[in-house]
Amino acid sequence: MAEEMRIVLRNYGKIDPLNIDEYIAAGGYGALNKARGMSPMDLIGEVKASNLRGRGGAGFNCGMKWNFACQAPADQKYVICNADEGEPGTYKDRLIMEGDPQSLLEGMAICAYAIGATQGYIYCRGEYPSVVKTLNAAIAQAKEKGVLGDFSIEVRMGAGAYVCGEETALIESIEGKRGEPRIKPPFPPVIGLWYKPTIVNNVETFANIPAIVEKGAAWYAGIGTPTYPGTKIVTLTGDVVNKTFFEVTTDTTIQEVIFGFGGGISGGKAFKAVQIGGTSGAFIPAAHLDTPIGFDAMSSIGASLGSGAVFVLDESRDIVDVTARIARFFAHESCGKCAPCREGTMRMHDLMDKINAGQGQTADIALLNKLGRVMSYSCLCGLGQAAPAPVLTAIEHFSADYDAKLA
Ligand SMILES: Cc1cc2nc3c(=O)[nH]c(=O)nc-3n(C[C@H](O)[C@H](O)[C@H](O)COP(=O)(O)O)c2cc1C
Repeated sequence: MAEEMRIVLRNYGKIDPLNIDEYIAAGGYGALNKARGMSPMDLIGEVKASNLRGRGGAGFNCGMKWNFACQAPADQKYVICNADEGEPGTYKDRLIMEGDPQSLLEGMAICAYAIGATQGYIYCRGEYPSVVKTLNAAIAQAKEKGVLGDFSIEVRMGAGAYVCGEETALIESIEGKRGEPRIKPPFPPVIGLWYKPTIVNNVETFANIPAIVEKGAAWYAGIGTPTYPGTKIVTLTGDVVNKTFFEVTTDTTIQEVIFGFGGGISGGKAFKAVQIGGTSGAFIPAAHLDTPIGFDAMSSIGASLGSGAVFVLDESRDIVDVTARIARFFAHESCGKCAPCREGTMRMHDLMDKINAGQGQTADIALLNKLGRVMSYSCLCGLGQAAPAPVLTAIEHFSADYDAKLA
């Protein structure tokens, strides 16, 4: 793992996560002190100039988002950490929260100072009870040490819904309502939790902040690809020799991820496809393996970086079967609030099951393509908009597999 560059995971495995003194001895909370010596506008300018973009999937400039919340007049503002991590194959946020929870708290506290918030929440998936214990212990220690000042942080647990990772559904869930997305705009930095300005950032995004404040925007902006600088934690699963995680600069190619860090395809088989960014990610064929894992580079090949999960399929895998299972996942996880997603994910699931069972017609492929396009334009939130991507890209790049299954 010599080629790794650890910024977010800088303390992972090196300090006791349940001992705040070890975090402080490693330089922890130095960035928060430095930030408090700056004006909020200077601090936001620094984060903006670093070009840190959200690591939760949408890739929005973090400093720009903070600026919206900073400028919005309100008697109360909130900082929320999105630790829902519902994307199958992704466990990067868990690594940070288990291995170095104080770095997350410090990143959130810097954000709170920048926008003028006194209350924060960490929305953690319900499947991570041990992480919740670690977070609560870390918060208690930070409180006892007084490092967070007047900023309070509480943990809220999700209940297993994938859609609750979407920031407005997450906000509704914290408010005690059913987890369904809101219509955007208005966006949370202006109208968020309890209709107050709210920053929602991913765990990995917040954990980058102390290093950026400490070492400066220019240092960070110079790492990896210029349009999406820094590092990305990759979680590698599927048919690879090393099913593992690593943090690499964003100019690292898919080829290096799978054949370098991953040690290549397991069982001496050949590569078939890779799905990047989680369940809603595109299926990528061998022709694009030299693409870097940066946000824009992935978009340029019709894919998305998403959460940074990398799922590899070898030559023996039935991509139609895999895609049919994914379609079932989305039909199950659609919250049902908007018709294009509620109906679209169901129809997509039906069509994929029919094709997978050997009963599909050529017309069903055309219908899937049309349905997918309509969903990507018309669904209310990213769940329905992105759900067709694996189906459509599998049809595009692996049409022979589909043809072979038609009746
Ligand atoms: C269906 C759906 C699920 C999502 N799940 C997550 C998640 O588990 N974690 C996350 O950080 N962002 C998730 N997002 C993205 C969030 O809506 C939001 O963009 C993100 O939390 C913003 O933080 P960032 O700018 O730091 O990336 C999801 C989006 C959608 C549409």
